Amino acid sequence: MSLLRVDHVDKSYGEERVLRDVSFEMERQDVEVIVGPSGSGKSTMLRCVNRLTEIDDGEIYLDGEEIHDLDQNDLRRRVGMVFQDFNLFAHRTARGNITLGLEEVLGKSHEEATRVAEDYLERVGLADQADSYPAELSGGQQQRVGIARALAMEPELLLFDEPTSALDPELIGEVLDVMHDLAEEGMTMLCVTHEMDFARSVASTLTVLDDGQIVERGPPEQLFENPEHERTRAFLGDLTDVR
Ligand SMILES: Nc1ncnc2c1ncn2[C@@H]1O[C@H](COP(=O)(O)OP(=O)(O)OP(=O)(O)O)[C@@H](O)[C@H]1O
Ligand SMILES: [Mg+2]
Repeated sequence: MSLLRVDHVDKSYGEERVLRDVSFEMERQDVEVIVGPSGSGKSTMLRCVNRLTEIDDGEIYLDGEEIHDLDQNDLRRRVGMVFQDFNLFAHRTARGNITLGLEEVLGKSHEEATRVAEDYLERVGLADQADSYPAELSGGQQQRVGIARALAMEPELLLFDEPTSALDPELIGEVLDVMHDLAEEGMTMLCVTHEMDFARSVASTLTVLDDGQIVERGPPEQLFENPEHERTRAFLGDLTDVR
């Protein structure tokens, strides 16, 4: 059974149809990269999967269960999210950003939460920054804390919404390296990113979204080398030229 099945999903804001009959499936350990022009509905698609945004029509299944039948807190634990602007709590240390969910959502003791948080900080190369506040960390370090915080909840699926777009170019690599390692360890990841080298080398599936519709979807090499649609060629060509 697919880990994620998005089935004929529609979403409008007022008169504007932002997602139009979107359907796709992800298996466990898949890494799906979604690309598309600004305003094409990429963030909305991700946000529908963990119900930060509610869909108007269609269904979304996580491991066979319709997400609207799940307890919302349970869904958010099972589907983690990493944001473009990190979304860290400014008044909590790196460790404290991670222990919060472990204690309040998972009910772990403070000692246990601290141990787990430090394990995950070590995994993202930040063992020595546990006591730092977000303002004391670089953007790349803050984003790695964001990833560690999401991972600590042991999600089944991780959503990434342009995780490197707010970073200075020299800090992008350290975040992509962490994402690369996660993919190799078998984490199932649904990523919106413009990092085409990452898409080429890590994604199992690449999806082009335009105006709320899937234009083309398939193995990245196929979309890069032999796209079926002119729209795909034009869009991937533009992104590849920029870098
Ligand atoms: N909360 C909202 N209320 C009203 N309109 C919204 C809301 N969120 C998104 N939209 C609109 O929905 C459309 C799709 O937005 P979305 O953020 O999903 O696009 P995107 O592909 O992520 O774009 P970008 O690449 O700029 O991040 C846009 O036209 C946007 O203005
Ligand atoms: Mg977006």
